[in-house]
Amino acid sequence: MYYSLLRKALFQLDPEQAHELTFRQLKLVTGTPFEFLIRQSVATKPVTCMGLSFKNPLGLAAGLDKNGDCIDAFGAMGFGFVEIGTVTPRPQVGNDKPRLFRVVEAEGIINRMGFNNLGVDNLVENVKRAKYNGIIGINIGKNKDTPVENGKDDYLICMDKIYPHAGYITINISSPNTPGLRTLQYGEALDDLLSAIKNKQSELQQKFQKYVPIAVKIAPDLTEEELIQVADSLMRHRIDGVIATNTTLDRKLIEGLNHCQQAGGLSGRPVQLRSTEIIRCLSQELKGKIPIIGVGGIDSLVAAREKMEAGSSLIQIFSGFIYKGPKLIKDIVNHI
Ligand SMILES: Cc1cc2nc3c(=O)[nH]c(=O)nc-3n(C[C@H](O)[C@H](O)[C@H](O)COP(=O)(O)O)c2cc1C
Repeated sequence: MYYSLLRKALFQLDPEQAHELTFRQLKLVTGTPFEFLIRQSVATKPVTCMGLSFKNPLGLAAGLDKNGDCIDAFGAMGFGFVEIGTVTPRPQVGNDKPRLFRVVEAEGIINRMGFNNLGVDNLVENVKRAKYNGIIGINIGKNKDTPVENGKDDYLICMDKIYPHAGYITINISSPNTPGLRTLQYGEALDDLLSAIKNKQSELQQKFQKYVPIAVKIAPDLTEEELIQVADSLMRHRIDGVIATNTTLDRKLIEGLNHCQQAGGLSGRPVQLRSTEIIRCLSQELKGKIPIIGVGGIDSLVAAREKMEAGSSLIQIFSGFIYKGPKLIKDIVNHI
């Protein structure tokens, strides 16, 4: 009820303005007596995954809190884990505005933000300040002006800086809004990247005497054959987790709707079935050897259960949270 009124007001605004306003308010109330406005108690549903203990299986997906500004606020709302980022080594402004569109009739979102973020050093300071005692995942990417052939270096730079502060690290090679990024999902480029990342993980494990799991985030637009190759590569390199999926380039399910022709990645209900298919196929290939974190169009308890039944050990939400508000966390966590 409360959120449906708030949503009405926020949806009158440009989406990015609504986002900025909401973040300003969240920062204002967090850690003050007014935190009760956002805090909700949810059932404890512990899950062990990638060797880590999660309070419950529902996390915030990457991209909403790119700089880690509001970790404590999302923790207070009841998320079992919070993934922040995508962050890049150097700050960057992202693509020109407007770059964020609601496809309201389909409860979808199209974005071509382009990894706008304040850089990895700023994010680390925010993580150090956070009081949240759940798992914080840090999602990393490459700067737009780093040639894709050198993309690997950007991931390694970020790993060096975040390793001691991360619960797990996500290697994002599936955003459609950084030219060339998705090519890292294929063949030799993928093998080369994963091998460098595993070496770096071993080096940092020695240095910090702590094993931080690595998850790889993939696109929903891979063909079955490509997906099988990705799964094979993840297993060969002993990657700890896979996050499926990012946003889609496919517009079939929103043909004719407002903003449907905007360039960028589509999320929310229109990607729900596709992402579940990817999870099911991955699950068959991985045979339980690597846990799957399912994300894409989860907007209800039913949709959350479908993701779990398809083979996810953990799940995440983004667009559903924008459309349904914090109550969605409670609806899912308390009954899953
Ligand atoms: C506005 C917006 C920005 C996003 N930014 C990122 C990002 O920086 N890194 C990332 O890995 N995924 C990003 N995503 C993808 C989400 O994390 C998620 O994988 C995708 O939206 C599917 O989930 P959903 O249908 O619940 O939104 C973004 C999604 C949206 C809508």
